[in-house]
Amino acid sequence: MREHQQWSSKLGFILAAAGSAIGLGAIWKFPYIAGVSGGGAFFFIFLLFTLLLGLPLLLAEFAVGRSTQKDAIQSYKAIAPGTKWFSVGYLGMITCFILLSFYSVIGGWILLYLLKTLTGDLNGLSQEQYGQLFGETITDPVLSVGAHFVFMAITIAVVAKGVQKGIERTSKFMMPVLFLLFIVLIFRSLTLDGAMEGVRFLFQPDFSKLTSETILAALGQSFFTLSVGVSVMVTYSSYLSKESNLPQSAVSIVGMNIFIVVLAGLAIFPAVFSFGLKPDAGPVLLFNVLPTVFNQMAFGMVFFAAFLVLFLFASLTSAFSMLEIIVSVLSKGDAEKRTKWSWAIGLLIFAVGIPSALSFGVWSDVSIFGKTIFDAADYLVSNILMPVGALLISIFVPLKMKKSALYEELSKGSSLSKGLFNVWFLLMRYVAPIAIFLVLLDVLGVWKL
Ligand code: PHE
Repeated sequence: MREHQQWSSKLGFILAAAGSAIGLGAIWKFPYIAGVSGGGAFFFIFLLFTLLLGLPLLLAEFAVGRSTQKDAIQSYKAIAPGTKWFSVGYLGMITCFILLSFYSVIGGWILLYLLKTLTGDLNGLSQEQYGQLFGETITDPVLSVGAHFVFMAITIAVVAKGVQKGIERTSKFMMPVLFLLFIVLIFRSLTLDGAMEGVRFLFQPDFSKLTSETILAALGQSFFTLSVGVSVMVTYSSYLSKESNLPQSAVSIVGMNIFIVVLAGLAIFPAVFSFGLKPDAGPVLLFNVLPTVFNQMAFGMVFFAAFLVLFLFASLTSAFSMLEIIVSVLSKGDAEKRTKWSWAIGLLIFAVGIPSALSFGVWSDVSIFGKTIFDAADYLVSNILMPVGALLISIFVPLKMKKSALYEELSKGSSLSKGLFNVWFLLMRYVAPIAIFLVLLDVLGVWKL
């Protein structure tokens, strides 16, 4: 059966695109990378990159997807026939493949912790005991690989059915409840002793702490949280009808993302400082800190379980989008092929992710360029592949799409003024490619020669 899927409503698209964007990136990765990268200055640069580069790129991917109504490969072919630009789509598919392989490991951690809140294992422990318990959980090879498998199996099952039905129904209630729970959590976190030090850490920039690596990390983080640079947003907007308002969708997705990032930061850093922990604990930060905060609330574990359910959901909707972009290309709109490819690719991703899962435990000694397998995979995706993908898209769109056609596409269903459009075009044409290129050169040490 051949069909080009469509979102059933405008809201469906925004929810799915926001669902792809909001996930581990904002809630788990942002606090830990900000913690490792010195806090305030990182946050400031991250915001700048999100607004000046991420938002314009998101809109550019929307324009590519909706104007062609095709998948991540065919859309580039339709715009620039006879050229090699479609490789940008393949790069995005490869990036999502590697990304999902380790993303799912963290998704597995959420599942494991959810199970623990339900069995009561997490009731009334001390901060050290929480840390210890978490350490024991993720270093256990069977538990971590098993949970990684379950997370992948859920992702595969939903993508195999067709992502629209899977996402639209469930997304509607998630975002508001997630916001609410965060507010409760932040209230507890901010009223802990010494909480202000955490707020200062997050918001008071100390630019003397900035290094090339921190700037690159902020760039990678801003693309990561918005899911841009990998053609996921091209794919999602290809399922979109012509009437929807692209600029408004992009702005609301970016707004929600920044909001969640700030909420996550405010929930975590005050607690980190109040408990006398170090903010640079790495990937385990969120899981080490949150149980203690929840434990200090009435019905804490009930709230924690609710939080984990939403967090799981947020990470699943992101995971769907990573698998979807690959499956949509391979199955070419054929429903039977969709099921087969979802399982084939999904299981392969599971297998490729096993070393990442083990790298917190039995394989923690294995190092690639001085990083664990997990950290190396994350670095490759977030700090190299996504910025390179974003760079190519920022060159492609102004070069291969006519300015007038772009204006027409972006102003369809919206009241985008010519002036704002021109600002966007300038950002895309000059600022984005040059800025991304400079950051990448900076990391190669070119300026220090
Ligand atoms: N934006 C997602 C998150 O923050 C991650 C993601 C990146 C999803 C790229 C799809 C593509 O969790």
